[in-house]
This record gives sequence, structure tokens and C-alpha cells, in this order.
Amino acid sequence: MPHFLDLDRTPREDLRAILDTARAMKAARGDRPRGTPDDALPLEGRVVALIFEKPSTRTRISFDVGARQMGATTMVLSGADMQLGHGETVGDTARVLSRYVDLVMIRTFGAEILHEMAEHATVPVINGLTDSSHPCQLMADVMTYEEHRGPIEGARVAWMGDGNNVAQSFLQAAERFGFDMTFSGPEQLDPDPRLMERLRASGRDARIERDPARAVADADLIVTDTWVSMGDAESSRQRRHNLLRPYQVNEALLGAAPESALVMHCLPAHRGEEITDAVLDGPRSVVFDEAENRLHAQKAIMRWCVGA
Ligand code: CP
Ligand code: NVA
Repeated sequence: MPHFLDLDRTPREDLRAILDTARAMKAARGDRPRGTPDDALPLEGRVVALIFEKPSTRTRISFDVGARQMGATTMVLSGADMQLGHGETVGDTARVLSRYVDLVMIRTFGAEILHEMAEHATVPVINGLTDSSHPCQLMADVMTYEEHRGPIEGARVAWMGDGNNVAQSFLQAAERFGFDMTFSGPEQLDPDPRLMERLRASGRDARIERDPARAVADADLIVTDTWVSMGDAESSRQRRHNLLRPYQVNEALLGAAPESALVMHCLPAHRGEEITDAVLDGPRSVVFDEAENRLHAQKAIMRWCVGA
């Protein structure tokens, strides 16, 4: 079953083909109104269920609009309003959904919930973010980097701050697409060391650099994300802020980076915390291209899943 669960579970050539499809579909749409269908309707007659156990703006809307542009019918479901949120097992939910819909996207907490869904579903399942990864985001991020700078292979990405789900998907993307990573954050919030190891084993560099200015000195791309992710204990907020403050992406930090370094943030941003207004709204930021490309990349992911 072609589930889209994590980048390291999807063959490299398939990830590349997905990005090629995304680029072609984006170009083919041009500036037509968002509500109009694509010329080809590869998902015509299909039903897509989008399940959210955490809040979302980009993922919810881009999947919904993207599926509709390709001719599908969509259903946006809150986990709390389903029996799933009231004791029905993930496995039973997956079996039932598979009798009604053609494709399931789920945003949830632990990765084990996603994997249980995929194990019991007889239709493809897409990871719309878990506590440990966010692969759809990375497909949009690689697409965005390449639109601005050409092939990402051989580039160096500096991740600033929390070694969270998006940081971990960056490490997996680096292994798949062949780029180097510098992680700069407090030791307590390092990403999973196994992902760093896997990246090194693939022949790319995975560096930890606690000094933020040194970390960005050779970066082609600087990336950050919220200091407190959905699902992180509210009681840890102050501690996390204290630990992460030195890693804020601000103009002083950009002064230590090459002129050509781009800035990304998956959004939602907490302006004045992990990133300043001047950087987010500045000339090196490509965050809104990144947000737009969620739409195009996920359309291609959905097509890959259903083989259309
Ligand atoms: N970047 C991202 O996944 O945003 P949402 O939480 O708004 O979906
Ligand atoms: N790391 C963030 C990403 C949000 C899209 C979170 O999990 O809350």
C-alpha cells in the first residue's frame, strides 16, 4: 500500500517524481482562480478524509483545496468529534474508513497512532504531522528551495532551535535528497540522534554546532520553527523559551550568514520569539512561497498514493 508516512519510507526516485509532478501541476494551473478545477482530474470520483487531532490552517486548507482541484470530494474531520476520540480504536477506525473513502490524511500525536492507522487501512494513509515528523512540509520546503536556488543536492541547511518534528523531517529529507545539515540548539532539545547517524551513514554531513553564528556561517538555507510545538507540555513553555532564546533567527544572526542564504519557517510563526518581523518579512524569507507549495506538493503526494 503506497502510504506516505515518512520520507525514509518512500523511495528516493518516488520523492523526486512527486516533486516533478508538483512543479508541472503548479505551472499548468498558472493564475487561474483557486476554486476552478485542474485541466486533468486525476482524483475524480474519489473521496479524501482529512482527520485532525491537532489544530491546522495550512495542512487543512491546502489538502482540501488541492483534492478538490483534482476532482475529489473531501471531508475534514476532527478526531475529537469522531468515535476515535471517545474510545474506538485506531485500527477499527482505519478498517471502517477504508470502506467509505479512497484516501486518508491524519494529523495526530504519537507516530504509533499514524502507523496503526496505516497498518489497518486498506487505502493509502498520509502523515499530516505527528509529534515526531512532518514529511509533507518537507516536500514543500525542498520544492521551494529548488524554485529559488536550483538543486538542493549538496546544499547546507542550518536548523535553529528545537529539534522537533519538522527538524527531524529535515534530517530525513537531507538523507533522501542529499544535502548537509547543521543543527544549532540546546543539547536538551537535540533531534533524535539516530536520524543524525543515518544522515552521516548516507555520506552527508550532520553537524551539531551550539554557537548560532558559527552554525549559519556556511548555510544556504536557515530554518526555524516554534519553540513550543502542539503536544508539548504547557508547563515546559518558560523553560523552553529560556533555553531557545539564544537561537532566535534575527537580523544579527543573518549578518553572520552568507548573503545568499534563504530563510524558511513552516508557519505558524511566533513573531518576536523564534523569528523576528524583520527577518520573516525581509528579502531572504520565502515563507509564503513555502506555504503555497504545500498545496502543489500535496496534490502530487495524493496522486502518488492513489496511483493517478
Ligand atoms: N505548517 C503547517 O503544517 O501549518 P498548519 O499547522 O497550519 O497546518
Ligand atoms: N513543530 C510545530 C509545527 C507546526 C506546523 C508543531 O508541531 O506544533
